[in-house]
Amino acid sequence: MLSPDPSVPLSTNVHLLRWVQKMTALCKPDRVHWVDGSQEEYDLLCEQMVAAGTFTRLNEEKWPGCFLARSDASDVARVEDRTYVCSASKDGAGPTNNWMDPFEMKKKLRGLFDGCMKGRTLYVLPYSMGPLGSPMSQIGVQLTDSAYAVVNMRIMARIGKPVFEIIDTTDKRVVPCMHTVGAPLEPGQKDVPWPCNTEKYIVHFPESREIWSYGSGYGGNALLGKKCFALRIASAMARDEGWMAEHMLILGVENPEGQKTYVAAAFPSACGKTNFAMLIPPKHFAQKGWKIWTVGDDIAWLKPGPDGRLYAINPEAGFFGVAPGTSDKTNPNAMKSLRKNTIFTNVALTPDGGVWWEGMTDEPPAHAIDWQGNAWTPEIAKATGAKSSHPNSRFTAPASQCPTIDPDWEKPEGVPIAAIIFGGRRATTMPLVFQAFNWTSGVYAGATMGSEMTAAAAGTIGKVRRDPMAMLPFCGYNMGDYFRHWIYMQRTLTETPRVFHVNWFRKDADGKFLWPGFGENMRILKWIVDRATGHGMSKESPIGWVPHYEDIDWTDLDFPKEKFEELQRFDREAWRQEILSHEELFLDLRSHLPKEMIYERELLICRM
Ligand code: OXD
Ligand code: MN
Repeated sequence: MLSPDPSVPLSTNVHLLRWVQKMTALCKPDRVHWVDGSQEEYDLLCEQMVAAGTFTRLNEEKWPGCFLARSDASDVARVEDRTYVCSASKDGAGPTNNWMDPFEMKKKLRGLFDGCMKGRTLYVLPYSMGPLGSPMSQIGVQLTDSAYAVVNMRIMARIGKPVFEIIDTTDKRVVPCMHTVGAPLEPGQKDVPWPCNTEKYIVHFPESREIWSYGSGYGGNALLGKKCFALRIASAMARDEGWMAEHMLILGVENPEGQKTYVAAAFPSACGKTNFAMLIPPKHFAQKGWKIWTVGDDIAWLKPGPDGRLYAINPEAGFFGVAPGTSDKTNPNAMKSLRKNTIFTNVALTPDGGVWWEGMTDEPPAHAIDWQGNAWTPEIAKATGAKSSHPNSRFTAPASQCPTIDPDWEKPEGVPIAAIIFGGRRATTMPLVFQAFNWTSGVYAGATMGSEMTAAAAGTIGKVRRDPMAMLPFCGYNMGDYFRHWIYMQRTLTETPRVFHVNWFRKDADGKFLWPGFGENMRILKWIVDRATGHGMSKESPIGWVPHYEDIDWTDLDFPKEKFEELQRFDREAWRQEILSHEELFLDLRSHLPKEMIYERELLICRM
């Protein structure tokens, strides 16, 4: 039950109390609210946001418990150029991260945070990344002046009283997280629906394990448990403690005999991780008894288990998925997950109090209010190209609502991972699938991964960038050391997962996708699981093991051998360019690059 006075501390931990006091003195909020995590509290905060114009309640019958938020047009994605890893030395952060001297940055942040919450409420939001009480879980406390962040975090993590209890009764380290939208209110000043600041700083201090985020209320900039903690800070913790924090979905493949094989897959932002995690097998597979179970869609924490295998948990409790393109055709399980108790951000509002986005249905609504609050019609879209929803618009939905959520998704010790898949969005060069020869060549395949940029981050959409293990924006330390850590992990395992690379996005000469994707990916996933469990056949190629046409189950899909061969084609000239571009990444990382990466590149060149 919600406390009648939320300013009364819900913890007795003296360190926490002292820190909250110090930060309150710095931020100067009008009120302090200790978040208990109850449904009542959630409802009250949502109600307050409806009154403030931040939230619109959706049609209760069609979209029970759902809300729509519209952000400021300048605050719509993660801001990678404003994201810093402030380790003690610049070398510690490495060339792929923005860096500033930690003392200087702290000084700057103290200045920015001084009085930043005037006129607002400071929420003390405790959260657990990972199931409550799991030995693999980690605890954070976010101080924030954003009620939007609080209610989203209630979906994305385990929050509130049970977490205070862990803080009070165990010696688990707590990661302190400061967050402000950076929009103090003068006495009498009217608030705006989406307060934020044009100046933004998303800052990580990996040694002291602290996060400070200033100026944004959107997604990964504001829900600090996600990218800031579960990837950037956690990757630094994992390096020190012998585990891995990765930008990976986790799924289980159940075969007709009822045996389950778990797979983790790293694809860059907005490349279909959520769709893949909730894949629906084609009819013929389903009839035979193949099933896909979802453990997570974005982040995996992996740790060697007592049996020498690699075990994974999903540190999150919800999906923060990209809305456009999500439909009953592309991802019915996501659509069922978001039918209730979901927060939508920057999608369109339909006249019946529902939501819509590009790709949700073939037929657009005749009228809608677009993500910026303007009237939108298909005719306007045709004439001006205006999208009803921002390309990075999102749904925040509880993972427990997913029809394919794995019965073991909250197992404290995690699930055993038999295969790791890397993949990017590549129109050329990369085949549909290959298996790396061994762990180290798999690390090379992941390290040199490339992908065309998407709308999940500010930048040039469509340009291929190297995105090692899909972690370029999320690695909390020097990328060269990160590769070394990957190589080192083999020594802590008696059974390493098999490593694969996929590309669902190869195009033909006319620019058309060669592969149908979505549910059909099951055919490739089956080959991967067959290989990982020692059943599937393959042949050798310069880049790894590849399936023969006959090694894939093509039942009910008209996919001729010639087309498969075009998809799998090893284009020597394109690979020449590819390897030269690997070299560019390696030049940047040279001072920390493990020698295994150089040897692997040499071997690849020799095989070509
Ligand atoms: C995400 C991202 O939100 O990767 O998951 O940007
Ligand atoms: Mn992501």
